[in-house]
Amino acid sequence: MTSLADLLANNRRWSEGVTHRDPGFFDRLARQQAPRYLWIGCSDSRVPANEIVGLMPGELFVHRNVANIVVHSDLNCLSVLQYAVEVLRVEHVIVCGHYGCGGVEAARRRTPLGLIDNWLRHVQDIAERHQHLFTGAMTEAQAADRLGELNVLEQVANVCRTTIVQDAWRRGQLVGVHGWIYRLQNGLVRDLKLSVMREGALAEEYGRALAALMS
Ligand code: CO
Repeated sequence: MTSLADLLANNRRWSEGVTHRDPGFFDRLARQQAPRYLWIGCSDSRVPANEIVGLMPGELFVHRNVANIVVHSDLNCLSVLQYAVEVLRVEHVIVCGHYGCGGVEAARRRTPLGLIDNWLRHVQDIAERHQHLFTGAMTEAQAADRLGELNVLEQVANVCRTTIVQDAWRRGQLVGVHGWIYRLQNGLVRDLKLSVMREGALAEEYGRALAALMS
């Protein structure tokens, strides 16, 4: 088992390694960050945002919570989104879920886990809203995958509906909102083909992505 001392030793080695490859790296980074992307993903330790998409510190602004949920009253998530869009002026907001998400699965199975049940209720709502997309012929694994995918589509829609993104689009700011899902078993990201780039495009894009998912 790794001790805290090991973590600090790892950190020194990492810092030395980065400095060795690029002596000016930390100096540049300390002066400013200019990420082009905001990543909204799950807190799951197996889904390390930067690593999956091969980005260095400074290149990806990140918000993570259990089951990558975007709730209109979540001041934490909204603050991240606002800062990313209005101050950092990221060009893309990526909602990336993952297959095998414990949060999504707990929501689907209605497993009581305590306080977090209230948070995961948002995912249960999605399952209920899309009940007709879950057929008796599906295996448990297929149903779990489907809810993970639907959760991403729904959270993309929620990002698009925020005042932050709506205002940005009205100002003519270029910002795209995209839905992806990561598979733990092979380390690959699947593009769920939901990309919304402008006001008023959500309904059509959402419908198209949902139809593609079902085909
Ligand atoms: Co998860």
